[in-house]
Amino acid sequence: MKNDPAPQEIACAETLWPALRAEAEKLVRDEALAPLLQSVILQSDRLAAATGRLLAGKLAAPHLPEGLLLELYAETESALPELGDIVTADLCTVTKNDPAAKDWVAPFLFFKGFHALQAARVAHYLWSADRRHLALYLQNRISDVFAVDIHPAARIGRGVMLDHATGIVIGETAVVEDDVLLWHGVTLGGRNFTDTDRHPKVRKGASIGASATVLGNIEVGAGSKVAAGSMVLENVPPGKTVAGVPARVVG
Ligand SMILES: CC(C)(COP(=O)(O)OP(=O)(O)OC[C@H]1O[C@@H](n2cnc3c(N)ncnc32)[C@H](O)[C@@H]1OP(=O)(O)O)[C@@H](O)C(=O)NCCC(=O)NCCS
Repeated sequence: MKNDPAPQEIACAETLWPALRAEAEKLVRDEALAPLLQSVILQSDRLAAATGRLLAGKLAAPHLPEGLLLELYAETESALPELGDIVTADLCTVTKNDPAAKDWVAPFLFFKGFHALQAARVAHYLWSADRRHLALYLQNRISDVFAVDIHPAARIGRGVMLDHATGIVIGETAVVEDDVLLWHGVTLGGRNFTDTDRHPKVRKGASIGASATVLGNIEVGAGSKVAAGSMVLENVPPGKTVAGVPARVVG
């Protein structure tokens, strides 16, 4: 799904990890934050490793211990060598788009849309590796912990941002391409329970505003915008903005 990265994306990717570590080294002087910064960032040698540690701490449960989650993340990374690049692209997108992201440490450690997406990437790997019940268990934990429900079969590109993220639902046959932005409460759902390709396909660079509902196997075109609160039942043309219930092209 990925085209060649733009120059600013390359610059972000190259500087992100050293910049994140440098910030953590300064912030570690705050004793209350030190254990988190040490165990997640400063003891890691790369962003993907730090992400694995962060997620393991957040998602651990009595029957899903931290050690097992670390192993699953490591297994995902070795099966998917580009995982580090994908995590980097996602975090770069957050800092590029979100004025609330004023440094690297805060979005990395505290933005749960980023966390939910990285965990969903592990669940997707498990689904693809035919460990489907484990993938569904992880989906359930992600939903419990982050209030984001992403079916592990859904295909999600890189440079994707889930802003605020509470209440996002992404169905089994949905596709979310690179550089897509979804706000909280977005539903990419089916119109009924038929076991077919029934979910939306959100094309590159589209954005879908808070609490918008997109139903059916329809296209949300590249670079299009769906206004907050819309109900989308038909294809959204590329580059257009739609709004309303049902959504119509505006602007
Ligand atoms: C749709 C949106 C992207 C604006 O797009 P835009 O291209 O700048 O469009 P404009 O602001 O010029 O609005 C175009 C028309 O759509 C209408 N419109 C904009 N947002 C709308 C919404 N959420 N619902 C209904 N109509 C809306 C405007 O009133 C305007 O109508 P008009 O042509 O009759 O005057 C923006 O309003 C939006 O909804 N963004 C999502 C942001 C979000 O979810 N934020 C959550 C932050 S926590």
